[in-house]
Amino acid sequence: MSADAAACPPWWVPAADAQSLGGGAPLAVRAFGEDLVLWRASDGAPQCFVDRCPHRGARLSLGRVHGDVLECPYHGWRFAAAGRDTDTAVRAAPAGRCVAIPALAGFTPPATHCAIAWPALERHGLLWVAPPGTPGHAPPAPEPLAELAPRRVLCGPFDAATSAPRVVENFLDTAHFGLVHDGWLGSRSELTVPDYRVEPDALGRPGVARYRAWQPRASTAAEGGAWVDYRYQVLGPYSALLVKKAAAATAPREAYVLWACPLDEETTRVWFTLATDDTTRSDAELQAFQATIFGQDAPIIESQRPRRLPLAPAATGGELHNAADRLSAAYRRWLLEQQVTFGTC
Ligand code: FES
Ligand SMILES: [Fe+2]
Repeated sequence: MSADAAACPPWWVPAADAQSLGGGAPLAVRAFGEDLVLWRASDGAPQCFVDRCPHRGARLSLGRVHGDVLECPYHGWRFAAAGRDTDTAVRAAPAGRCVAIPALAGFTPPATHCAIAWPALERHGLLWVAPPGTPGHAPPAPEPLAELAPRRVLCGPFDAATSAPRVVENFLDTAHFGLVHDGWLGSRSELTVPDYRVEPDALGRPGVARYRAWQPRASTAAEGGAWVDYRYQVLGPYSALLVKKAAAATAPREAYVLWACPLDEETTRVWFTLATDDTTRSDAELQAFQATIFGQDAPIIESQRPRRLPLAPAATGGELHNAADRLSAAYRRWLLEQQVTFGTC
């Protein structure tokens, strides 16, 4: 589906890792079914336009960056960054406004000559975008990271041929650990899910304050099995937090934030920010562990049908739930309350 901006839901999502966008060249990305171009203005601030020139539809991501304008590769129309330049005409222009047409020297393009600009910002080592008109200036939930262990390792991106809500729900689901992650996050010999309670946070987002599980190899640092306390918190429709604390006092504090970007309704790109105080493992080792876990999940979540997450209760034709699924059922109810339709059905 090609979502026009008006049809996109009002949520910030990560579109690229920050270091993949240098100062010199634009980068083609995708979010909410829309092809987008990311580039950096002269002060490094990320800019995002729909990747389609309003003149003849060429891809702006094939163009060039000149200071605070992005030049289309076809006829060289130049489109302004969001208000930063020593050139007054460019600085005064709203983001995306065409400020020069080389075929017509001296012509001042009218205000209708615009690329479609999306808000963009950099946070947590990622570049975030939001459909035009999205309220607020922050991506979801910067707050949980401050309270976590200080070392940050960005893992991903990982792509999955399924909807972003299916990916988030899988992150919240513990009943699959002993089957899908046998010998890693769970064991076939212990498939019971202990009773747990779902408690919404102050914003009404579902979470589980304490969930205890036996894990054969809960992290890269684990030498053997351990009892681990989990805390889960839904942060947004496409984002969730997991805090792990092994019972042993010497075990590292570890937390993961999942940030999913719906490339379209049924394709997802995922990053994880790992927060840890482990000092014994390299970034590459920590990233490899996460890649292994995601690689175990991928064939299963890509096999789920429908790819979009069904939100209807079981009584009206939705999927079946039991007490072990309380958290994912609460996530579905919350998506319904938030009227999240992108990636659900
Ligand atoms: S298509 Fe972009 S300038 Fe003509
Ligand atoms: Fe999993």
